Amino acid sequence: MESSVSSPKASPNIKRIKSQKINDLLKNLNKEQREAINYNSSPLLILAGVGTGKTQTLMSKYAHLISKGVQPQKILAVTFTNKAAREMEKRAESITQSALRFNWIGTFHSLSARMLGFDQVYESVELKVDYHILNQDKQRKQIRKILKDQKGTKDLFLAFEQKMFSLNQKHQYRGFKPSVPYAKMVSCIDKFKNRLLFHDDDEPKGLNEFERLVFLNVYTEYQESLISENLVDYGDLILYMVRIFRQKPEILQKYREQFEYILVDEVQDLNLLQQEWLKLIIGDNKQFTCVGDDDQMIYGFRGAGGDFILNFEQHFQNAHIIRLEQNYRSTKVILTHANNLISKNKKRKGKNLWTENNEGEPAYINEFQDVQTEIDQICRQIKVLIQKQNVPPNQIAILTRTNQEGREFEKQLVMDNTPYDLSSNKKQFLKIKEVELALYYITVLEKQYDDFAWKHILDKIPGFGKDTCKKIDECAKENKTSMFDILNNLAQNEQNQSTPTIKKASGKRKPAMPISALEKWANPKLIVSKDDSTEGSISSPKKEPQDNVRKILKVDIKLNKKQKENLSRLMKQREIFKNTQTKMLVKYLTNIGFYEHLAKNSNIKEKDPVKCQKNVQSLLEIAEAFDDIKQFVDHIALFSQEGSGSEESESKSIKLMTIHSSKGLEFDHVFLPFWVQGKMPVEFQRDRQAADIEEERRCAFVGITRARKSIHISHHQMSDNNYQTIQHRQSVFLKEI
Ligand SMILES: Nc1ncnc2c1ncn2[C@@H]1O[C@H](COP(=O)(O)OP(=O)(O)OP(=O)(O)O)[C@@H](O)[C@H]1O
Ligand SMILES: [Mg+2]
Repeated sequence: MESSVSSPKASPNIKRIKSQKINDLLKNLNKEQREAINYNSSPLLILAGVGTGKTQTLMSKYAHLISKGVQPQKILAVTFTNKAAREMEKRAESITQSALRFNWIGTFHSLSARMLGFDQVYESVELKVDYHILNQDKQRKQIRKILKDQKGTKDLFLAFEQKMFSLNQKHQYRGFKPSVPYAKMVSCIDKFKNRLLFHDDDEPKGLNEFERLVFLNVYTEYQESLISENLVDYGDLILYMVRIFRQKPEILQKYREQFEYILVDEVQDLNLLQQEWLKLIIGDNKQFTCVGDDDQMIYGFRGAGGDFILNFEQHFQNAHIIRLEQNYRSTKVILTHANNLISKNKKRKGKNLWTENNEGEPAYINEFQDVQTEIDQICRQIKVLIQKQNVPPNQIAILTRTNQEGREFEKQLVMDNTPYDLSSNKKQFLKIKEVELALYYITVLEKQYDDFAWKHILDKIPGFGKDTCKKIDECAKENKTSMFDILNNLAQNEQNQSTPTIKKASGKRKPAMPISALEKWANPKLIVSKDDSTEGSISSPKKEPQDNVRKILKVDIKLNKKQKENLSRLMKQREIFKNTQTKMLVKYLTNIGFYEHLAKNSNIKEKDPVKCQKNVQSLLEIAEAFDDIKQFVDHIALFSQEGSGSEESESKSIKLMTIHSSKGLEFDHVFLPFWVQGKMPVEFQRDRQAADIEEERRCAFVGITRARKSIHISHHQMSDNNYQTIQHRQSVFLKEI
C-alpha cells in the first residue's frame, strides 16, 4: 500500500492524518478500482456500468496522485459538471489537509475559458480583454439583432417553418402563424460547433435543409458579429482553443508538457469538438485515464457519437481496459428494472451488473387520469416524504425528459411551498430584469472592458437615452477602444474640466505581471492566502492597462450637467468598489443609485417594488457565497447551466431537472413522470431528426439508475393540447422494465 508523501514542512500530526486518509481511501475501494488507481503505463479506459464507482475511482485517483506528491498543475482533470470539479478538489484537499493550489480541474468549458484567458491567448482569435460570454438567451438575442433588417433571410426561415408545419399533419390547427425560429438557430449553430464545423469552412455534406439554411445565411454573420462586439458563446470557448492548438503548436506543446496526467469522466458523451480538444492535448501521453459507460450515451442529439469509447483501442495504442461490474448505488429491485430495460438495446457492449445492496422497495408505477392530477399527486407524495418520513429534500429528484415538462412542475411546487432547485440556465431567476441589470453592474466592476455589459447599463443612467448610448458606442468604435475608456474620459472631464482627452488605449493590453500571478488571476480560488509569499507579491492581480501605450481619444460628445454628474457618480463608485468583497455589493448598488432606479422603474411598470428588491437581495446572497467578485461573475457567466444556488439553499431544495442534466448524480428517491408514448420515448416533429429509440432507452435507463432507494414512474391517460383532449398510451419502456 502507498505511504503518504507530504510536504517537507508538514508536521508529524498532519502526516499521520494524511496517511490515515489515504489508507481509508484505498481500503474503501475494490480490487479493480485500486488497479485503476495504480495503473499508469498506457492509456486506460475504465469501461464500467452504472453506479459502479467510476467517478469515485477517478476522484480517488486524483487524490492519490496528489497525495503521492504530484503537483496539482500537472494533472488535467475533466469532469462533467463544475460541481463534480469542486467535489474532486475537496477530496484531494481533505487528504492533503491543505488548500489545493493551481489545480486544473473543470469542465471542457471552464478549462477552455481559462486557457483562453492565459497570456492573452484570446488575442490570437481577435478577441480583446474582458470579452463577454453569451448564454443561450443572449445568443438568441444576438441572432435576432443581426437579422433585424434582413427581411429576405427572415422570409426564408418563415417559409421553411410554414412548410414544416404543413407537413406536420399531427399538429395542425387553424390560425398558425410561423415565427422566425431564433432558438432553433442557436441550437443549430451550437451543433455546428460541437461537430467541429467552423463558419469559414466550405459547406459540409450531409446537412439537413434547416441546417443548410443556417450555415449559409446566419452562421458567418453571427460569428463575425460576436468578434466585432467582443463576445463569445460557450461553444466558442472550446472551438477557439482547438483552433489555437492547431495553429500555434507552441501553445499546445506547453500544455502537453505541463499535464503529466490526464483524467476524464463520462467519455461516452464526448462530441467531436471535445474529442478533438482532448486528443490534441493528450498527444502521446500514456498517463491518460478516462471512464465511461456505453449504456449511458445520451447526447447523440448534440453530436456525441460514442466513437471515443467504442473505438478506444483504435484511438490509442496499447490501450488498457478495466471493467467494473458491482453497482454500489441502487437496490436490487432498481438494478433489475434498469438491467431489464437496457438489455433491449442491441447496440451495446453488454455488462453483467450486480449489487450486494438490499432488495429494497418495489418500483412504484402509477397511472393518473390527466397531467394535472399526475403533477398534484407527485408533489403530494414528495411532501409526505419530506414532512412525514423526514427525507432531506435534496435526496428527492423529479427527472423529466424535457425542460418544458419540468416547468409544468414549477407552478405546483411554488404553490405547495416546496423549495426546489432547477438547473439555472432554465431558471427564470437570472432572466428577471432587475436581477439581470444588477448582474451587469456587478460585471463591470470586475470586467471594465466588457462593452456588452456597459451597453445594458448606460441607458439606465438617469438622463442617458438611447441616442447618447449609441453615440458612446460609436465613439468607442471610431477610437478603436472600449466604451469604458470613453466613459472614463467623459466622467473625468466632469470631475476636472481641464483634464486633456488622453487615455490609455484598451486595444492590446499586456498585464505586466509574472506568470505565477497570472496563474492566480486565472484561478480565482488561489487569490486568497495573504500570508503566502512564495508565489509572487501580487495577491489580487490588477487588470488595469499596464502598458505605456497612450492614445489620444477623439471624444466630441457633449453631456449635459445631469448626465455628467450621474456618469461620474457611477464611474467613481465603480473605482471605489472594484476590488471589494462580495458582501459590499449592496453598498455599491446603493451608492450608484441602482435601488432608486429600481423603485422608480417598478412604479412605472407597476411591478411590486418589494419583490424587485427581494430578487436582487437573493442575487446578492448568492454572491456572498463567493470569495470575490471575479469568482462570482465567472460562476454566473460560465457555470449558470448548473444551478446557482448556495450550498445551503441547495440542501433544502428538491431537485427538478431533465434526465440529461442528472447524469452522474444520485438521489435516494427519484420521480420519473410523463412516461407516455411520445413523451418518453420522445417523439419529435418532422423537421427534427427522429429520436433514436435506443438513445431514448438509454435516457430512461439513466433516469432509473439515479435512484438509490426508490423509483416512482408515472403516466397519464389524457392531456389537453390547444383545447383538444389527447388520449395517451403508456410508454413501451414500462413494459420492458
Ligand atoms: N468500492 C466502493 N464501496 C462502497 N461504495 C462505493 C464504492 N465505489 C463507489 N461507491 C459509491 O457508489 C456510488 C456510485 O459511485 P459513482 O457515482 O462513482 O458511480 P459511477 O459509476 O460514476 O455512476 P454513474 O454511472 O451514474 O456515473 C457512490 O455513492 C459511491 O460513493
Ligand atoms: Mg459517474
